[in-house]
Amino acid sequence: MNKHPIPILLDGDPGHDDAIAWVLANASPMLDIRGVTSVCGNQTIEKTTYNALRIMALVGLNAPMAMGRTKPLIGEPIIAPTVHGNSGLDGPVLPEPAQKPLSIDASQLMAQVLEQSDEPVTIVPTGPLTNVASLLLSRPDLKPKIARISLMGGGIAFGNWTPAAEFNILVDPEAADIVFKSGVPITMAGLDVTEQALVFPEDFARIRAVGNHVAIVVADWLAFFYQFHRSMGYPGAPVHDAVAVAALIAPEILQKTDMYVQIELAGDFCRGATLGDRFGVLKKPANATVLTGIDRQAFVDLLVDAIKTYGEVAK
Ligand code: BDR
Ligand code: CA
Repeated sequence: MNKHPIPILLDGDPGHDDAIAWVLANASPMLDIRGVTSVCGNQTIEKTTYNALRIMALVGLNAPMAMGRTKPLIGEPIIAPTVHGNSGLDGPVLPEPAQKPLSIDASQLMAQVLEQSDEPVTIVPTGPLTNVASLLLSRPDLKPKIARISLMGGGIAFGNWTPAAEFNILVDPEAADIVFKSGVPITMAGLDVTEQALVFPEDFARIRAVGNHVAIVVADWLAFFYQFHRSMGYPGAPVHDAVAVAALIAPEILQKTDMYVQIELAGDFCRGATLGDRFGVLKKPANATVLTGIDRQAFVDLLVDAIKTYGEVAK
């Protein structure tokens, strides 16, 4: 294990799988969460911000928090109430926020954290890339202070919101294009791997049996999140966003390959597609480490162990 924790910024649109990703990150002694930012995606920015603050209260995460823009860089918001409900995080009752967002915006908080850090910071975006692109546009001088961007988004083989595009990239393809062209090292947890990160109903029971307050909420989140996926034929809940965190704390459970990935910005059918040059035909240097496989059982064990750190309950 790393003796010195990796400084990170969490940026997401919670969202059930964002929430579980943050539960995992907050439990890990390998990570030092320096800030949290919300982005519009699964729901409006007001709702994802409120959800972010409620998750922070649930897990006792006390870090600076700031709200992102109300819209993607160019297009209009796309929201996902069919997947995450009208609140963006339907299901169990959550504690009310213990803090307020700062008066600066998400990209300004990111810049502040990078400036104040002695070492480069890893950004973990689990929603559309609007805030990260805003940071790169407004403060290109800070690129060397970004160690890596470990993101959930895209899919080399297929999409989920359109046949070609994954939700996070589809919501703000221009932002994704800026991020993938930035030269900052990228780990891409796309659908290729995240649809293998399935948590089955029997795993929900195992999580619930941990018995602490976080375990009960996570089991309820999974049960809610699974309803949509069951209706789509999935045998479990794909906890997409937690893979972007697992890539930092348990890289040994993942398979990966480096390649050049470009974002489709136009096209009649393919806006938001992440085109991976698997065979190097474009003769461009790789700009992303694309995750391709995961040891599912080890992933579930990682979640269970993380949840246990919120307190064992006497049985
Ligand atoms: C992504 O879309 C969102 O609904 C999830 O939170 C995840 O980040 C999966 O396509
Ligand atoms: Ca998300």
